[in-house]
Amino acid sequence: MATVNSVVCFFFLVNIFLSSRPTQSVPEGALITELPGFSGTIPSKHYAGYVTVDESHGRSLYYYFVESESNPSEDPVVLWLNGGPGCSSFDAFVYEHGPFNFEKAKTKGSLPTLHLNPYSWSKVSNIIYLDSPAGVGFSFSKNKSDYITGDIKTALDTHTFLLKWFELYPEFLSNPFFITGESYAGIYVPTLAYEVMKGIDAGTKPNLNFKGYMVGNGCTDDEFDGNALVPFAHGMGLISDELFEEARIECNGNFYNPLNESCATKLKKVDQVIDGLNIYDILEPCYHGPETVETAPSYIRLPSSFRRLGETERPLPVRKRMFGRAWPLRAPVRDGIVPTWPQLSNSHNLPCTDNEVANSWLNTDIVRKAIHTAEKSDVSIWGLCTDNILYHHDAGSMIKFHKNLTARGYRALIYSGDHDMCVPFTGSQAWTRSMGYKVVDEWRPWIVNNQVAGYIQGYDKNLTFMTIKGAGHAVPEYKPQESLYFYKRFLDGLPM
Ligand SMILES: *[C@@H]1O[C@H](CO)[C@@H](O)[C@H](O)[C@H]1NC(C)=O
Ligand SMILES: *[C@@H]1O[C@H](CO)[C@@H](O)[C@H](O)[C@H]1NC(C)=O
Ligand SMILES: *[C@@H]1O[C@H](CO)[C@@H](O)[C@H](O)[C@H]1NC(C)=O
Ligand SMILES: *[C@@H]1O[C@H](CO)[C@@H](O)[C@H](O)[C@H]1NC(C)=O
Repeated sequence: MATVNSVVCFFFLVNIFLSSRPTQSVPEGALITELPGFSGTIPSKHYAGYVTVDESHGRSLYYYFVESESNPSEDPVVLWLNGGPGCSSFDAFVYEHGPFNFEKAKTKGSLPTLHLNPYSWSKVSNIIYLDSPAGVGFSFSKNKSDYITGDIKTALDTHTFLLKWFELYPEFLSNPFFITGESYAGIYVPTLAYEVMKGIDAGTKPNLNFKGYMVGNGCTDDEFDGNALVPFAHGMGLISDELFEEARIECNGNFYNPLNESCATKLKKVDQVIDGLNIYDILEPCYHGPETVETAPSYIRLPSSFRRLGETERPLPVRKRMFGRAWPLRAPVRDGIVPTWPQLSNSHNLPCTDNEVANSWLNTDIVRKAIHTAEKSDVSIWGLCTDNILYHHDAGSMIKFHKNLTARGYRALIYSGDHDMCVPFTGSQAWTRSMGYKVVDEWRPWIVNNQVAGYIQGYDKNLTFMTIKGAGHAVPEYKPQESLYFYKRFLDGLPM
């Protein structure tokens, strides 16, 4: 680290002598000069590398930073976080709103082809894709005890990351700064935003120009999220009126924590009826990749590989964890250990999801070299979602964080792909309403290209709930054009 710092200082001095403009003290070696699979000119500057958040443990977080293709010196800086817990933010880079669309290789063993993505979020913002916490994606620690982690430690580490990152890229300190993410980042985003707010209050340097945050299909509160599935399944026509009525009566509206056998029986019936759907988008087929093992229909909810627990050879106590909660349905964010997808499914792939292009690209040596990842001794393989970590949900409900942050004037957009069954919109709609803020923009469609793109409800204190019609869990993957539209409007503080 010392050598890197001195190189940065040297750069600084040279720049002072060479020009009188504000210094661009980009860290040595961070600039990406070529990307295997892409033959054009990279449309803006891309940087990647590590920020060490704990020197004594050698705990380092990997980032990939894409400068804006419009006006990098003025456009917002946005931190993006994927969830899991355990999933790499390359999920968004490759499949959602990154600068490239990845085309699968035509022949086995060759690289995917990268095409420019016309709806990349780098069209309108500077964006940092961060692998977090350590142990996820390309982030790692030399001390493996760090892989036992949780919400609080993750938020502290990510805050440290931000302070150090802005020290490395001080020319971006004055740009408006936003924190964004989806899924389990519904926990990462508000807990981090809260640390950032506390840091600003305490006068921590550097001073971050924090403006607001955005969460897509985010886990928030065990009760609201846990109660969301049954009404969703009913509203979407996945379960019958009769079953809905029976479940409603037997469970007395409490679907996340069945209190008696008859309620549990109804919920089991719900599970049985919706089993086999792609939970990330009920309209999409379920991809059965090579690692997915088909089992006979079972009336236990969700991924079929879930049912093979006990066959694992993993050293961690998978079985205990899995019965601790019904992730991700009904109780996605209960206090305690949150199993990662691979821990649930004995597979590095997400259920129903084909991750082949990301896997093949990011695990190619020349790509790893080009994007400055660690040595294989530190990160042997990249996985979309890892089971390296043992993760505790220890920050409770997010509603108190949202209250604090919005009360302080930070802008918040809570959006939902309305065909996601993993974190259904019904939960986000209910908890945003429960905040009790005055409705200032009553439920109405929002429009892109003369078409209804979804629905919106605006609340006082710049809190907005919004759906994206026809989108699944990872909204920009399904609706890239609409997503770029609402993203830009949100960053600019304009109505949809
Ligand atoms: C790893 O960190 C833990 C907790 O700080 C510490 O007790 C342990 O000694 C460390 N292990 C190594 C190998 O440094
Ligand atoms: C089960 O519990 C719910 C909620 O407390 C209650 O409304 C329902 O009547 C109970 N059903 C039976 C069969 O006890
Ligand atoms: C929110 O802010 C209030 C007052 O500023 C503080 O007392 C409270 O502890 C905060 N809530 C959380 C979640 O920490
Ligand atoms: C909402 O955000 C806008 C734009 O940042 C700001 O001008 C306005 O004061 C905010 N409104 C509230 C109620 O905080």
